[in-house]
Amino acid sequence: MKKTNILHFEFLVIGSGIAGLNFALEASKFGKVAIVTKKELMESNSNYAQGGIAAVLDKKDSFKKHLEDTLKAGCYLNDKNAVEIMVKEAPKQIKKLIKLGVAFNQLNNKLILTKEGGHSERRIANAKDTTGREIERALIFQVRHNKNIKTFESHLAIDLIVQNQICYGAIVLDKEKNTVDIFYSKAIILATGGSAQVYSRNCNPKIATGDGVAMAARAGAKIQDMEFIQFHPTALNIPGKPTFLISETVRGEGGILKNNKGVAFMNKYHELKDLAPRDIVSRAIFEEMKKNKIYLDLRHKGTEYIKNRFPYLYNELWWFGILMDKDLIPIAPAAHYTCGGVHTNSYGETNIKGLYAFGEVAHTGVHGANRLASNSLLECLVFGSRAVSSATRFVKNLSSIIYHLPTKNSKLKINKTVNPKIKAIKINLQTLMWKNVGIIRETKKLTEALKKLNNYHKNINKILKKGLNKEIIELQNLCQVAILITKAALARKKSIGAHYLLK
Ligand code: FAD
Ligand code: SIN
Repeated sequence: MKKTNILHFEFLVIGSGIAGLNFALEASKFGKVAIVTKKELMESNSNYAQGGIAAVLDKKDSFKKHLEDTLKAGCYLNDKNAVEIMVKEAPKQIKKLIKLGVAFNQLNNKLILTKEGGHSERRIANAKDTTGREIERALIFQVRHNKNIKTFESHLAIDLIVQNQICYGAIVLDKEKNTVDIFYSKAIILATGGSAQVYSRNCNPKIATGDGVAMAARAGAKIQDMEFIQFHPTALNIPGKPTFLISETVRGEGGILKNNKGVAFMNKYHELKDLAPRDIVSRAIFEEMKKNKIYLDLRHKGTEYIKNRFPYLYNELWWFGILMDKDLIPIAPAAHYTCGGVHTNSYGETNIKGLYAFGEVAHTGVHGANRLASNSLLECLVFGSRAVSSATRFVKNLSSIIYHLPTKNSKLKINKTVNPKIKAIKINLQTLMWKNVGIIRETKKLTEALKKLNNYHKNINKILKKGLNKEIIELQNLCQVAILITKAALARKKSIGAHYLLK
């Protein structure tokens, strides 16, 4: 066995999406920060965010309207206090990003705001259709120039080190050197993002395997609202091709959903038609797809407008033979966002001392039963910044890092040979989740899914005993999260928001 490296920091941030990077930059004023991330710094859900960030930035708009839209989309299952905090702190976060160098879409020094489903006003700050990439670029530039932040790419957190409800650090796999390292820290931050890879049809990058929720659950953290998986209505739908997202801002800027006869249908389902909240649009498409293929049509906006407003989407679709200004875009829903997660208060504190969570991994209560579009990047920033104050206070009150080694040796053994069963189990699990725990659910199918998932779990544990590699660690997490989603779906007996049960 190779030597285990032992490192220590004041703040250990797991994840380099917008939640993790924003926290790291602010916390670096108070101590040494490590960012551990399982691929390159840039690789995250954040990097693929298209639409933008919601904030009240126009005179016609108000905090009251943003609050009400968020609660309505969330079916009033939201924590109203948390939503109020988020909405009120939003404009400050946008100003901060501009100061950090984020190039939002502007004309004459005024932000060009866009619209998405469920919003009663234009309030989405954007960098056209690559908002996430632009924010990541600006934050990573700052991180790379910050002497108090050390970054560890290709480092996969395996488990948290927790004893007696106190977190001391994390066990981490260095994928390049093939070592298992111990990162001790006074404050440990979970910013590991979502888990849509649990589903066969999803529009998340491969990193979104729910590691944070699974690690936190194993450590005894409270997990909440996992049944609320948001399915985005419009992901590309060409058999065998990637299911990448076609932003809701395409509909915000006039795009219309049509069936294969060229007929718009959303008026049958909601007064806001194509801009109804996401859960409603996804279910409507799902219903219509029983009879028809479904398309998104933006052709009426003209070539010049489309190429200028959606340059990324125009180029991406071109590779698949689709010209956005001349062709209909075939779309279908795909798993997109995890509304639930590790439960926290409004300062990112979990029920485990020293462990903080925010961003998509967390459940702050802001989203309720269904997230309002473009509230996610906002949540990452607002609650990440608030967690800096609580984590810093905690760090200052601890006189020294406690070097505690409660790790079992089995967690430190690497197995370089990837068992071929891992791939098969993963595909079966993802397909099962799509079919049985997807957009429309039935108790019988949920029960059947849980039984199969428990069997997968047993098989995964057998493979785990032979040693660790990225593939088995991620599969273990996917399975654990799938079980959490299914159990939560079984426990909620009535349809609400993103959880829809057939009677
Ligand atoms: P992420 O950005 O996903 O970052 C998680 C990080 O944790 C990654 O760096 C990952 O590699 C790392 N990580 C995970 N597990 C481990 C581990 N075990 N060890 C080490 N590192 C780990 N939201 C909006 O508000 N507006 C939008 O326009 C928008 N568009 C979207 C478009 C797409 C295609 C997608 C997929 C999502 C979109 N969302 C949007 C949602 C939003 O992007 C995410 O919810 C948000 O970016 C999550 O940020 P995060 O920092 O919490 O997690
Ligand atoms: C999109 O651009 O459609 C994604 C927006 C979001 O998930 O909030």
